Amino acid sequence: MPKLVVVDRAGAEKAIEVDSGLTVMEAIRDNGFDELLALCGGCCSCATCHVYVDDSADALPAMSEDENDLLDSSDHRTATSRLSCQLPVVDGLKVTIAPED
Ligand code: FES
Repeated sequence: MPKLVVVDRAGAEKAIEVDSGLTVMEAIRDNGFDELLALCGGCCSCATCHVYVDDSADALPAMSEDENDLLDSSDHRTATSRLSCQLPVVDGLKVTIAPED
């Protein structure tokens, strides 16, 4: 099973094993990280699943225009920002949950 490393807002790091085919948002939510709200359920319309991705982000799909627009609404956007509901789980990926807007 792919492994995902998640860093929460307090800086605690946890490695989780997740089913293939899940999005990063689903994997985080299903593993007890309640600070990732994911209010729209993955429809790319809320931006409450904002994360920062690490260097293995090269393996991730390109950002859509909708995702880009939503991230623009965040005060905490950085060069590594992504919406986790738009990302497939990639083995070894490390993501940090972004601060709440
Ligand atoms: S869960 Fe709403 S944009 Fe990702």
